[in-house]
Amino acid sequence: MTAQLIKGSEIREEILGEIGKEVEQIKEKHGQVPGLATILVGEDPASQSYVSLKMKTAHQLGYKEIQDTRSEDISEQELLDLVEQYNKDDSIHGILVQLPLPDHINDKRVLNAIDPDKDVDGFHPVNVGRLMIGGDEVKFPPCTPAGIQEMIIRAGVETSGAETVVVGRSNIVGKPIANMMVQKGRGGNSTVTVVHTRTKDMEFHCKRADILIVAAGVPGLVKPEWIKEGACVIDVGVNRVGEKPSKKDPNKMVPILRGDVDFDAAKEIAGAITPVPGGVGPMTITMLMRNTLNSLKYKLGLM
Ligand code: GUN
Repeated sequence: MTAQLIKGSEIREEILGEIGKEVEQIKEKHGQVPGLATILVGEDPASQSYVSLKMKTAHQLGYKEIQDTRSEDISEQELLDLVEQYNKDDSIHGILVQLPLPDHINDKRVLNAIDPDKDVDGFHPVNVGRLMIGGDEVKFPPCTPAGIQEMIIRAGVETSGAETVVVGRSNIVGKPIANMMVQKGRGGNSTVTVVHTRTKDMEFHCKRADILIVAAGVPGLVKPEWIKEGACVIDVGVNRVGEKPSKKDPNKMVPILRGDVDFDAAKEIAGAITPVPGGVGPMTITMLMRNTLNSLKYKLGLM
């Protein structure tokens, strides 16, 4: 069996097209565009690259976008004041503080200072609580889990009554996606099991999964023999396992990325599978754009 490839890069284009149309309509009718402020502290190359991709996507969609870059030695109070400045700015509907922050800054304190109604990352405890309650209460689902659920839905995979197994229990992916898959409604109604480093027999649980979502950050953790024939496999792992010359510029080195699942073998067993790269990755920024648009829609009473 060769699995259906669930390509995040294609689904992203579909969703960005939908968002772009809505932005135009709202601009015409209400004279406003979504505004996204991204705060980047320091010069970490990976963070710089993520933030510039977010800004580029926002720009292409016609958003107002602000990239506020601050030096590594910014004080916690200065950062809190900056967050407050964007909390008060009516033209900004989404605020994102890129993680990780330097060690001298308490990231929890900074994230908790973001107005929950502008927290398009969905990391604020108020939004975590809203997600837990589910249904109409949810305002900003965290971007990677939202992207995963959207891919499963758009790939036509039945979630209702499915055995869903989540590998990993992080606050950013494992815990929220487990919660989202169990909720009533579209893309939910699954029977969910979460496995983690202390699970006695991970293989046993993975083998039962109709939908297997792997977010462990361990390259090749899930072996092909752990996958049930015909299962839907979502690989969230993006592990840098080495470097290779870039195709565009052979003098430049780019990272070699591997997922948490042995893709080549798994695709012969699974019914549907996401590749790495080009699977879950492109969906995260897409969902950030959707959350930012929705933030404006909430404000305008359109949601
Ligand atoms: N750093 C890596 N991923 C993310 C993300 O999704 N949001 C924020 N704020 N920081 C990140």
